[in-house]
Order: sequence, then structure tokens, then C-alpha cells
Amino acid sequence: MIFMDEMLNIEICGLKVENPLLLAAGILGSTAASMNRVLDSGAGGVVSKSFSRESNKGYNNPTVVEVEGGILNAVGLSSPGLDLFKDELGLIKRIDGQKIAIASIYGSTPEDFAFVSNSVEGIVDMIELNVSCPHAMAGCGSAIGQSGDNTFNVVKAVKDKVSIPVIAKLTPNVTDILEIAVAASKAGADGLTLINTLGPGMKIDINAGVPVLHNKFGGMSGPAIKPIAIKHVYDVYEALDISIIGVGGIKTFEDVVEFFYAGANAVQIGTSIMYEGINIFSKINDKLIGFMKEKGFSSVNEMVAYAHK
Ligand SMILES: Cc1cc2nc3c(=O)[nH]c(=O)nc-3n(C[C@H](O)[C@H](O)[C@H](O)COP(=O)(O)O)c2cc1C
Repeated sequence: MIFMDEMLNIEICGLKVENPLLLAAGILGSTAASMNRVLDSGAGGVVSKSFSRESNKGYNNPTVVEVEGGILNAVGLSSPGLDLFKDELGLIKRIDGQKIAIASIYGSTPEDFAFVSNSVEGIVDMIELNVSCPHAMAGCGSAIGQSGDNTFNVVKAVKDKVSIPVIAKLTPNVTDILEIAVAASKAGADGLTLINTLGPGMKIDINAGVPVLHNKFGGMSGPAIKPIAIKHVYDVYEALDISIIGVGGIKTFEDVVEFFYAGANAVQIGTSIMYEGINIFSKINDKLIGFMKEKGFSSVNEMVAYAHK
């Protein structure tokens, strides 16, 4: 167990967390064992792989391919279903005031989202609503998050059923993300996670003459999408008074500082774990402390929205 410097302590949606680095949904989030390893390696919290009420096989392989600046994925929201996954969630080693577990939930109707959220309320600290996957089956994912009305209905249905904090994870693949952010906020969302994968995009195998991914297209993640994520965080911070969790392309402590300066209260890390390993959490936290001391910041909160001053 790694003990964190108090200057990294944050509060997000009313929950105290020992440091601002969280595991992003979909990477190492399928079992309690892998999420506990991430927590032991220095993350302040974990977001589970998105799961649904019923099981879903997801897409066939290949589901992931490397491209310039990141990766494309079309996993297709594979899910063991609520009954099985609930057992895994219950085994996550949460520590009150230090380490949090966030359940990432998807579905096709507001009722589905509300039912699943209500079923796991007692075993996680927060709910993240995945209304933003760009390669989900019909009616799920960004089919919801590209409409203000649909986003409002999902968030409202969940907020009516649970009393733990609820955050909506938004897609950048819209004309105006503020319209969706406002809808989620009006429905009572306690926070927003910005952003899910970009695109979708495609890579073609020039020898076989076919798209590499079985689903043909997938969402883009990794360093290339960071500037887009930063801009969305910056814009939403200007428009709304709501907690923001930034995600997209974080690889270094400098990236984390940029997200704070843009207006994020915490961040999530996904793709870079594939390259840097799970020690990325403790490495970034150590360097963050060094940066804060050098610049005279005594808390993460002092860095939030610094670029707006
Ligand atoms: C392989 C893979 C699987 C993912 N699965 C999910 C998922 O189940 N739910 C979700 O909300 N986001 C999912 N994402 C998106 C990430 O949580 C994150 O928003 C995105 O990858 C940008 O962050 P990054 O550049 O740090 O990876 C997935 C991303 C990848 C690469």
C-alpha cells in the first residue's frame, strides 16, 4: 500500500479521495483483482468496466488496434451482466475517505440505467453513466449522449433512484457538448466525466484490404485526443458550476496539471496504462507533488481552473 501526501487529497462530488488519479472505465476494470491492483499501485479510485443489466458478448476480435497517437477500440461494451458483475464490485477494496469505487453503467432505457444503479448503490461510492460509447449496439452509448433529451431522461431516472453521487460521462462526438452538459446538469448530475473516445475512426490493413477492427470502426483514445478533452473541460467549466473529471490521453504529470488548470477536479487514466504499466499512478502522483511544491500550490484545489484566472 502506497501512502499519499496530504497535498494530493481531493473532494469530488462530496467524497474525500486521497489523490486525484482514477482508473478510466474499460481498462483493467473487469475484475475486482485487477482494480485492487490498480488501487494498491497508487490510484485514488477505480471506475469499473461499463456493464449492463443483461450480459452482452461484445464484438469479436480484433477489438483494439494501435494507430498514430493512440489506439482505436471497438470492444462493443462486453458485459457479464449485473448479477455476475455485482459480486466483483463487492470485492473492491474501498477505503473510506481514501479510495473510491465507481460503477460504470450502460443500458438502452432510463429504466435499465436506474435499475442497475439502484442494485449496486450499496457497494460502490459513485455511479458513472456511460451514455457516450461511440461503438455501442443500437440504442446504447452515444445514441443517448448525442441527445440532450435522452441524456436528461437517463440522468433523471438514476438520480430519482439512488442517493450516492451520479456522474454522466459525455461524448465529444457532438456539435455542441455544452447542450448535453447542461441537460445532464439540469437532470441533477453531480458531476461530468469528459471525455469518452473520439471519432469513431478506422484503420485499414493494406495487405488484407479490409478494416482491421472486426467492427470496422472504433473510438480513438490516447495522447492525440488530449487537446480536444482539455478544450471540452475548459468550455464546460466556463459554462457550468459542476464537478468535472477529465480524461483523454493523460500520460504524464504535465497532462494532469493541464486538466486541472482547464477546470477538472480529478482525472482518469486509461490507454497510457497499456504503455506505462500500472505504476503510472504512483509515478505521476510523485511528480505532481514535486511540481506543486516548486510552484507553491498546497492543494490540488488551488490548481483547479487556474487557466481561467
Ligand atoms: C480498450 C478500451 C475500452 C474502453 N471501455 C470503456 C467502457 O467500458 N466504458 C467507458 O465509459 N469508456 C470506455 N473507454 C474509454 C475510456 O474510459 C476513456 O474515456 C478514453 O479511452 C480516453 O482516455 P485515455 O486516452 O486515457 O484512454 C474505453 C477505452 C479503451 C481504450
